Amino acid sequence: MKACEPLLYLAPMAGVTDSVFRRLCRAYGAAGLVTEMVSAKAICYGDRHTFELLSCGEEEKPLTVQLFGHEPEILARAAEKMAAMGFASLDLNAGCPAPKITRNGEGSSLLRSPQLAAQCVEAMVKASGLPVSVKFRKGIGREDDVAVEFARCMEQAGACHLTLHGKTAAQMYAPSVDLDCIRRTVQAVSIPVIGNGEVEDGASARRMLELGCAGVMVGRAACGDPWVFARITAQLNGQESPAVSAAERMRVAMAHVHGLVEEKGAYVGVREARKHLAWYMRAFRGAAALRARINAACTEGEMAAICEEACAMQEREGAL
Ligand SMILES: Cc1cc2nc3c(=O)[nH]c(=O)nc-3n(C[C@H](O)[C@H](O)[C@H](O)COP(=O)(O)O)c2cc1C
Repeated sequence: MKACEPLLYLAPMAGVTDSVFRRLCRAYGAAGLVTEMVSAKAICYGDRHTFELLSCGEEEKPLTVQLFGHEPEILARAAEKMAAMGFASLDLNAGCPAPKITRNGEGSSLLRSPQLAAQCVEAMVKASGLPVSVKFRKGIGREDDVAVEFARCMEQAGACHLTLHGKTAAQMYAPSVDLDCIRRTVQAVSIPVIGNGEVEDGASARRMLELGCAGVMVGRAACGDPWVFARITAQLNGQESPAVSAAERMRVAMAHVHGLVEEKGAYVGVREARKHLAWYMRAFRGAAALRARINAACTEGEMAAICEEACAMQEREGAL
């Protein structure tokens, strides 16, 4: 494969990919950034918490807002608001398998109603004048495969590109991603398709690109590892990817914690930081004990002390 700079996306992950984490991932090479999913209905109601989820920094632009909903008129009104707020593009969630979303006919439930999903896309395009993409799954039931049919419908409705998570909703996040389904979908439409599912390094990204994907989207592998984007880029270009030292890992982890505290206040920030900090240390020797201490930490200072100790321990033992 020739030296290339494929489009690397950070996957939207509710409760994880807030503004602080998105900025970190952009700094390490995530070109495509999407907000966590936000409810179109809640935007229309002016829900304060929902607008907090939309907070973002200049460094994140261009930023895509992901909406979930199932009513074309509501999605249109929300889309118009997002355009007025200056967002670059919109994405419709047609992949979320969580019952609290699907029971309202939203998220992956839209796979059952491609005509309704198409009306949603058309309404969003018309109301906002923005590019509208769709992120979807292979199907709903374990053995379903509606990807090609659904993708064609979304293309006809005016979607600018598609992101396909090559698993069914029933599979949730369990292995393994259906690469053949992604290949057939890429071949069935003329708009770009971003491949998603278990991309974690240069080899798995290359597999997606060799199917004809215009880019790849990385989710769980970025948790506690924003360097994954730099590593994938280097490996795709046949370059060495420099190892990240324990000291550097802890420096970035603490910058992440500090960002969360600044953005959300000490109480919420520290609590949200716990899972991130544990992810940063998951490959450390003694990770389980460290996680228990992180989960009991109530201040940024306590977290900094754990990081310092963890770093000294890894360096002393010559382990990561
Ligand atoms: C904690 C969590 C939250 C997620 N939230 C969203 C979301 O808000 N919108 C969405 O389209 N997908 C969401 N996803 C799915 C991811 O975007 C992605 O499709 C999935 O994790 C597969 O990619 P991966 O194998 O690289 O993790 C979420 C996944 C996780 C693990």
